[in-house]
Amino acid sequence: MKLKDKVALVTGTSPNIGGGIAEALAAEGAAIVSVDASAANADDCAAYIRSIGGKALGITCDVTDEAQVAAAVQKACETFGRIDVLVNNAVLFNKKGVLGMPLAEWRKQIDVILTGAFLFTKYVAQSMIDRQVRGSILNIVSTAGHQGEPNNIGYSTAKGGMLNFTRSAAMELVKHGIRVNSLTPTATDPSESSERAQRWGRAAIDLSAARPVFEMYRSRIPMQKLPSPSDYGRAAAFIVSSEAEMMTGTDLRIDAGAIARYWPWDPARK
Ligand SMILES: NC(=O)c1ccc[n+]([C@@H]2O[C@H](COP(=O)([O-])OP(=O)(O)OC[C@H]3O[C@@H](n4cnc5c(N)ncnc54)[C@H](O)[C@@H]3O)[C@@H](O)[C@H]2O)c1
Repeated sequence: MKLKDKVALVTGTSPNIGGGIAEALAAEGAAIVSVDASAANADDCAAYIRSIGGKALGITCDVTDEAQVAAAVQKACETFGRIDVLVNNAVLFNKKGVLGMPLAEWRKQIDVILTGAFLFTKYVAQSMIDRQVRGSILNIVSTAGHQGEPNNIGYSTAKGGMLNFTRSAAMELVKHGIRVNSLTPTATDPSESSERAQRWGRAAIDLSAARPVFEMYRSRIPMQKLPSPSDYGRAAAFIVSSEAEMMTGTDLRIDAGAIARYWPWDPARK
């Protein structure tokens, strides 16, 4: 097991990617602190991990609220003794363009993605330094952070910012033995999140309206197959573990070749 006796705090633990990453880290032996503004997403993730024999604590917390973040980090440390791994994954989707996006919505989206990662990194890194934990921090980015996506200005900008937040934090924290990396997911097969929701005791997600959109994404990706949250989870477990002890400031792309693609090439045409 890659993460035996480690404690991992994951933000944004919906049954989609955050839940998939939390379950994958738990499968490698980590105790999980699942943090979400939605009490159901924090608690259902933790309850599922406990139900299969793992250790987990759900904490309801808005990642943009400094007092709530400080309290969540304190509670996690009181419960499990320390935090070894932080995954900044919480997100607010809001697809709007630069011409149409109201200022308040821009601020809110940047706040959840970037300020949330800043606050959790600040408090968790300090907790690691105080306890001499040589920890690992992972920021979840997106292919939209590497490319110019139209009409998704807040998301693309914040995700691009997260790439250099990762490098800057990695350089600052290297003297404390703390590694900071990012992981780039892309359009994600929705089947697994529906299956996970059901395992967490919820209704299946109706995917009928979304299927044509995901089929469009699938047809344009080099591997002709979209990744699932568990693909990100296995990669996350690797990069936060000691197996990746010489990696810091790196972006790990789990994108089925999306970013590497030569732009005029159509992978559906053999
Ligand atoms: N879904 C995709 O296809 C995709 C593609 C590329 C990258 N990503 C990235 O993967 C990550 C997870 O995406 P997802 O699709 O699982 O998202 P999701 O919407 O299913 O989950 C996001 C979670 O963040 C929580 N959240 C929102 N605002 C919060 C706040 N202020 N404080 C605390 N929690 C808050 C939500 O309650 C939710 O549980 C994100 O960083 C996203 O950018 C997703």
